[in-house]
This record gives sequence, C-alpha cells and structure tokens, in this order.
Amino acid sequence: MKGIILAGGNGTRLRPLTLITNKHLLPVYNKPMILYPLETLRKSGIDEIMIVCGKEHAGHFMNFLSSGENYGVKLSYALQHDAGGIAEALGLAEDFADNGKIAVILGDNIFEDDFSNNIKSFRKQNGAKVFIKKVTDPTRFGIAVIKEGKIISIEEKPKNPKSNFATVGFYLYDSDVFKKIKNLKPSKRGELEITDVHNMYIKENNLSYGVVKGFWSDAGTFESLFKTSKWALSRK
Ligand code: DAU
Repeated sequence: MKGIILAGGNGTRLRPLTLITNKHLLPVYNKPMILYPLETLRKSGIDEIMIVCGKEHAGHFMNFLSSGENYGVKLSYALQHDAGGIAEALGLAEDFADNGKIAVILGDNIFEDDFSNNIKSFRKQNGAKVFIKKVTDPTRFGIAVIKEGKIISIEEKPKNPKSNFATVGFYLYDSDVFKKIKNLKPSKRGELEITDVHNMYIKENNLSYGVVKGFWSDAGTFESLFKTSKWALSRK
C-alpha cells in the first residue's frame, strides 16, 4: 500500500513561526514535525510516500527530505496552490495512488500507536477506515457520532458535540475516495472537507473504524505543539 502525508495549509494558528518555514518543518522536541508521520507510515511497512505540500516554503521540504533515501522511504511530492482543504490536498495524489488502496496521514498528527495490523487487514477490505480517540476538547475536531457500535455520522468542529470521540488524522481508503472527492462541494469555510468524504462512505455503509491507542496529538496549535514536544522528550 502507498502512503500520503498531507502537509499543505497555511499554518495560520502557528504564526509568526510559520512565516519562517512550513508548520510541518517546525521542531517537535528534537526533530522536524514531518518526520513523525513519516515514521508512522514507515513502521507500518509503507515506504512509497507522497508528500502534498503548500507552495509557501515548498523548497524547504525538498532540501530537507530530498528523495527520502536517508529515511528509508521513496518520496514523491505534489504542490497544493491554496489551502482548499484536506480533501482537496488528497485529490492531488490520485495519479500517485494508481487505483490502489492508500493510507493517509495528516502532517501535523503525531501517533504513538502502530497501524501495521490495521493496514494488513485493510488490504482485504473495501470502503474506508477512520480512527477515533477520546478527547477533552471535542469542538476542535471531526467528532464521530456512534450508535450501537457504528459511526452514524461525523460532525466537523461541532459547537455542541454529540460525543468526545475525535476522528484522528490517519485514514485508510479504497480507490473510490477520488471519485468522492470530485463530488464534494466547499464547506462554509470554503474548504473541501475530509469529514464530508467520510459521511459519503457512511451513507454507503462502507466506513469502519478503529480506536487509537497511546499518545496522539494534532500539533497544529502552540499548546499542542508544546505538549507534543514534552511527550517526545519523555519517550527518550
Ligand atoms: O487532527 C485531526 C483533525 O484534523 C480532524 O479531527 C478533523 O476532522 C480534520 O478536519 C482536521 O482538522 P484541523 O482543523 O486540525 O485541520 P487543519 O486545517 O489543521 O489541517 C490538518 C493538516 O491537513 C495540516 O497539517 C496539513 C493538511 N492540510 C490542511 C489543509 C486545510 C492540507 O494538506 N491542505 C489544506 O488545504
């Protein structure tokens, strides 16, 4: 299976740091953020990876990671011109995916968990698989509404969350995902939302889920970036 790291977007929540370089190259304790999702994919057995990056500081990614050889992976790059949303960024990887199944990780999501077994079992499965984790700040995330052990809908950053289960930034998809992305309409904030893609899979009864174990963080705010660095230090 191939992997895709989504590292576009403007990183406005981390200004002024993101005026200097891209959010995903900022340090998380002792290494640039992007190495964490890269390592999550690599340790799950995925070594053919596309990085979708925004045009601001795009050259910094290539200067740093180059072909990926030093990190045990083979890298390709795609450029997202404007921050049109996570689903838009994923749409740019269609040719790279080449009709196969894909694992997708958000460039600011840092996991302790290992997805190897999920990836193995997804090879025999159709549809999409998302992963959830209990959070204390559900208005920040895509929140899963679960009934009788099934996700019946996902609400993006709800004002009145119906649960505390966030969908984290690791997703497994069959090749149908690109057809679904082409049918998306921009949300109120003007983005193609990955949550809308997941709701399409739910409508077809084709979305499964797993629960993430161990530490997980979306390091896209100053507080969570700091918390994630502290976790990385504590692991040493
Ligand atoms: O962290 C998990 C959450 O990530 C999910 O619970 C939400 O459902 C999902 O929408 C997302 O929410 P965020 O508000 O945290 O997304 P953010 O805009 O910070 O984007 C997350 C990553 O996605 C970012 O590090 C790079 C990539 N991205 C984002 C946008 C908007 C792109 O590659 N292109 C984009 O246009």
